[in-house]
Amino acid sequence: MREPVRVGLFGVGEIGGHIARFLMGKPGVTVVAAVDSDPAKVGRDLGEVLGTGKRLGVVVAVDAEKGLHGRGAQVAIHATGSYFRPAFAQLQSLVEHDINVVSTCEELAYPYLTEPGLAEELDGLAHRHGVSVLGTGINPGFLMDTVPIVLSSACSEIKGVRMKRVINASGRRRAFQKKVGAGLTPEEFAQALVDKTITGHVGLEQSIGLFGSAVSWELDGVQAGLPQPVIAAAPVYSPFMGVEAGQVAGMRQEAWGTRRGENVIVLEFEAYLGAPAEKDEVTIDGIPPIQLTVSPCVHGEPGTVGVVANAIPRVLAAPTGLVTVKDLPLPSAWLGELR
Ligand SMILES: NC(=O)c1ccc[n+]([C@@H]2O[C@H](COP(=O)([O-])OP(=O)(O)OC[C@H]3O[C@@H](n4cnc5c(N)ncnc54)[C@H](OP(=O)(O)O)[C@@H]3O)[C@@H](O)[C@H]2O)c1
Repeated sequence: MREPVRVGLFGVGEIGGHIARFLMGKPGVTVVAAVDSDPAKVGRDLGEVLGTGKRLGVVVAVDAEKGLHGRGAQVAIHATGSYFRPAFAQLQSLVEHDINVVSTCEELAYPYLTEPGLAEELDGLAHRHGVSVLGTGINPGFLMDTVPIVLSSACSEIKGVRMKRVINASGRRRAFQKKVGAGLTPEEFAQALVDKTITGHVGLEQSIGLFGSAVSWELDGVQAGLPQPVIAAAPVYSPFMGVEAGQVAGMRQEAWGTRRGENVIVLEFEAYLGAPAEKDEVTIDGIPPIQLTVSPCVHGEPGTVGVVANAIPRVLAAPTGLVTVKDLPLPSAWLGELR
């Protein structure tokens, strides 16, 4: 039997917590450390913070220096935020302590669009420390990039690709409903865009970058449109909240990758209370044409747990440096021991 993989947790919020609960019960994995800046968690046993009902002997520390480094973690699950620049110092400190990283930071899924300089710096650092760093998750990381990339491998020519994700936000947690603007008036939604309290779905551009790079398309531009409110035509109720007719039920957003003046990659993201037909859909206008519809759509939270946990053995075996999902071998579930 191999030694268990030693995992450190950097960020034990909503998604980091789900991943932690899963990894704690997974044979072949030992959670050795946890870090989170939330004062309500710092100093408490991780098992208690996660509501598992048993103490784990891992105390949540306020930062990696105090709680993660020196604990023998081979890989860290990093889940603190969506943007690469504010996460850079956290990632840097992990790499400088020779710890591989799987991160849910959306911009890290393809960091060359927004932060090419920082990406190069992190890549060089990871090479020098002999570790790999990967940004992944359900989206970006899987549905709108890995899936169409894999499908494209059956095509000899591609004119364009469209990806569409439709989520019925009624059954999702309140934080998600809030993130898509559910319950606001149209005026409040417009103001939230100005205040940047509603940012839309972070990661659409990164999925476009990943796809374009995988098929060797030089893109003229990658752009995400502003999120548009979806206004409820009739009252919609959900276990967590309801919206009245005329209120915002959620949002839709588009993003485009342009090549030679044409929108060759188009992503559509919709998430609102009462969305009638949840789906993930990829349509490739190519030879041969390909359409794949996954219905209902893959649930984002357990899907992220799966994608992130399943990336662990691949990241441990990956070449050193900053890697993306398209650089790694075909992904799959990780159900047995490490090979
Ligand atoms: N790629 C994907 O498909 C995917 C899927 C799911 C989530 N995500 C992304 O993953 C990130 C985490 O998601 P979440 O839902 O778990 O968010 P969350 O509930 O806000 O959790 C983040 C946790 O990290 C802590 N934190 C923030 N900065 C920190 C720092 N510098 N040091 C230590 N801890 C820090 C936060 O503490 P405080 O409360 O003190 O700030 C919070 O407890 C988000 O950006 C989310 O968008 C990506």
